[in-house]
Amino acid sequence: MKLYDKRDYPLSEIRRHLEPGPIVLVSSAHDGRSNIMTMGWHMMLGFTPALFGCYIWSHNHSHELITRSRACVINVPTFELLDTAVAIGNSTGAEIDKFETYGLTAVEAEKVPAPLIGECYASFECELEDDSLAAAQNLFIWRVVKAHVAASPKNPRTFHYRGDGEFMVAGRAVSRRSAFKPEML
Ligand SMILES: Cc1cc2nc3c(=O)[nH]c(=O)nc-3n(C[C@H](O)[C@H](O)[C@H](O)COP(=O)(O)O)c2cc1C
Repeated sequence: MKLYDKRDYPLSEIRRHLEPGPIVLVSSAHDGRSNIMTMGWHMMLGFTPALFGCYIWSHNHSHELITRSRACVINVPTFELLDTAVAIGNSTGAEIDKFETYGLTAVEAEKVPAPLIGECYASFECELEDDSLAAAQNLFIWRVVKAHVAASPKNPRTFHYRGDGEFMVAGRAVSRRSAFKPEML
């Protein structure tokens, strides 16, 4: 599988990769253990600071590592990783080492203990901003503190979950830029 050469990327622009709602792979680490989970339930919540909200079920092994370390990395995969993302989402790090089992490369992050996934074209390092709804709703709000994005592909073929085992794959880009008020872009 291809390893991406990722560069520093402006935090104010990370919505370009997360606002379309792609499936993401959430990596975590605590006390010498690391893990990955597949995630579809997430959204952007702010530009500056760059805030990101997501649902992490309390029964997931990732929930424990993330709650203890108060950090994670949100990695964006492309279509080549579809089967891997499905396998990651149908297994638990309580039983296997997912980096080893699925042949993924853990790359050291700059600001958080969780590793970046080398085979994902974009990786966003996150620190916990607000867990006030975590106990009741499994809702975590993250502050993205460092962004890494590969220069290519320009239009990544991300995939998007529709439930019941079906995905949509990102396709053609269309622009309506001229119809936008500047403050709505
Ligand atoms: C396509 C897909 C999307 C998923 N989205 C979420 C999600 O948004 N939140 C969540 O808690 N689990 C989600 N899951 C389930 C977790 O990925 C799954 O429970 C995983 O095995 C947890 O791994 P862990 O126990 O190693 O943390 C999703 C699974 C798949 C296949």
